[in-house]
Amino acid sequence: MRQGLEGKSAFITGAGGGIGRGIAEQLAANGAKVMIAEINEQTGQATADALCQAGFEAQFAPVDIRSEADIEAGVAAHLARYGGLDILVNNAGANQHFDASKMTVDEWEHSMSLNLRGAWLCCKHALPIMAAQNAGVIVSIASVHATMTAYNFFPYNVAKSGLLGLTRSLALDWGQHNIRAVAVSPGWVRTQPAVEHFEQADDPAAEEQRVRDLHPLKRIGEPKNIGDLVAFLASDEASYITGTEIVIDGGISARYAG
Ligand SMILES: NC(=O)c1ccc[n+]([C@@H]2O[C@H](COP(=O)([O-])OP(=O)(O)OC[C@H]3O[C@@H](n4cnc5c(N)ncnc54)[C@H](O)[C@@H]3O)[C@@H](O)[C@H]2O)c1
Repeated sequence: MRQGLEGKSAFITGAGGGIGRGIAEQLAANGAKVMIAEINEQTGQATADALCQAGFEAQFAPVDIRSEADIEAGVAAHLARYGGLDILVNNAGANQHFDASKMTVDEWEHSMSLNLRGAWLCCKHALPIMAAQNAGVIVSIASVHATMTAYNFFPYNVAKSGLLGLTRSLALDWGQHNIRAVAVSPGWVRTQPAVEHFEQADDPAAEEQRVRDLHPLKRIGEPKNIGDLVAFLASDEASYITGTEIVIDGGISARYAG
């Protein structure tokens, strides 16, 4: 089903690759004008170019979500180009694995600035624009690790849990301005970190098969799957969905590990 996003614009962090690019492609395919807010200039520009070549409206903004100045400049570029901001997708983030008894404060700050604080800072600069429009949607890409976790996923899972709290607070405090906030929690998705995980195994094919078999659907997700969900959540068809988390994981979290 095509979601009618014509006339809307979306600011997507980490959209130069992986899930973020999948989201940008699906939002654009459904009619939205997109801003590729990305730390990697090469992949960010390449994604914007590819979307423009496909006939969509897209622009690259150099944004490191750990920097409030970058976010301010990126949002200002978005406003100048598109004249409003309808959809914010907090996607940029990365898995981190630390020993809680050895992690330094600097390492903690770095992890939180990437996986939690950056999302709040993007909201901070998007919310006044959305409130003035009396409309807006904020989708934050959390993870199945937000509500369950695996060994050695500290403090990635802490930050992802924080995104659920952020989503609930935004929904409550900004709902009166017709702003919706939703968290999307993927399980395994075939992006560079997943591919690297398989490649580091002694037998990559066997490891990929093992992971596939953990899923009731016997496959891992693709970035397009997440993009399709975000396009729906951003659309008017999802206008009564806010303050909640949607899990998209091929059923893996329905499975009892024992
Ligand atoms: N792939 C999965 O299996 C999976 C599962 C659950 C959740 N997630 C979440 O989805 C999001 C995207 O993950 P992915 O698998 O696509 O990762 P990825 O590494 O393939 O892509 C991440 C993108 O974010 C960009 N980025 C990194 N740091 C940034 C920064 N400081 N500022 C702006 N951009 C930055 C990268 O350059 C890259 O383009 C992350 O938040 C991740 O935690 C991924």
